[in-house]
Amino acid sequence: MAKIAPSILSADFVNLERDIHNIEENGGDWVHVDVMDGSFVPNITIGLPVLRDIRRITSLPLDVHLMIERPIRFAERFIKAGADWLTIHLEADTSQNTMTCLEMIRAMGCKAGLSIKPGTPLKAALPYLTKCDMILVMTVEPGFGGQSFMTDMMDKTRRLRKLLDEVNPECLIEVDGGIDAVTQGICKKNGVDVMVTGSAYFKAPDRAAFVKIIQE
Ligand code: DX5
Ligand code: ZN
Repeated sequence: MAKIAPSILSADFVNLERDIHNIEENGGDWVHVDVMDGSFVPNITIGLPVLRDIRRITSLPLDVHLMIERPIRFAERFIKAGADWLTIHLEADTSQNTMTCLEMIRAMGCKAGLSIKPGTPLKAALPYLTKCDMILVMTVEPGFGGQSFMTDMMDKTRRLRKLLDEVNPECLIEVDGGIDAVTQGICKKNGVDVMVTGSAYFKAPDRAAFVKIIQE
């Protein structure tokens, strides 16, 4: 039993409202919103005004993934714009600012997520494990949809689950990148609770069936 968070990075932006309502109709759990700044990652996507408008048209939890430098500058504004879950990257600022930012997110009543890129060792996340409601283990290099799943990240999720069971058992593990009908099964066996999926969800011939495969 896992949750699915379809990533609107692969949606049709001209028909974003239609595609988000379609996520609701197909039984999706959360809507994953990828925010990129062209600096932390080599791509630019969407920002605050779009998030604000998405908030008006859905009651599904909005899972906002900030791939931006120094997210502490923007965290409050993204929460006010409607994020229910706000995930920042460990590599995007100093450890002091990362800690402060996670505390700030929780103090504002939002769920705090921390993400690690494929090259970041799990031990770098240890100081934050009790400060988070979710850890996002990237299973591709952040920046683009449609990349191949990195199976070797499963060692990280498996070890992370053991560590969290000791210090913060409620904390969820999310994966993002290359999740499809096959790789979601590998993730489930390795302690993952939430699957972000962009291209596989939007390309699925039967999206409702794809959602069920992940949720079962
Ligand atoms: C990539 C984004 C992902 C992206 C995943 O940096 O964080 O959320 O949408 O896309 P797929 O599922 O196509 O790998
Ligand atoms: Zn993402």
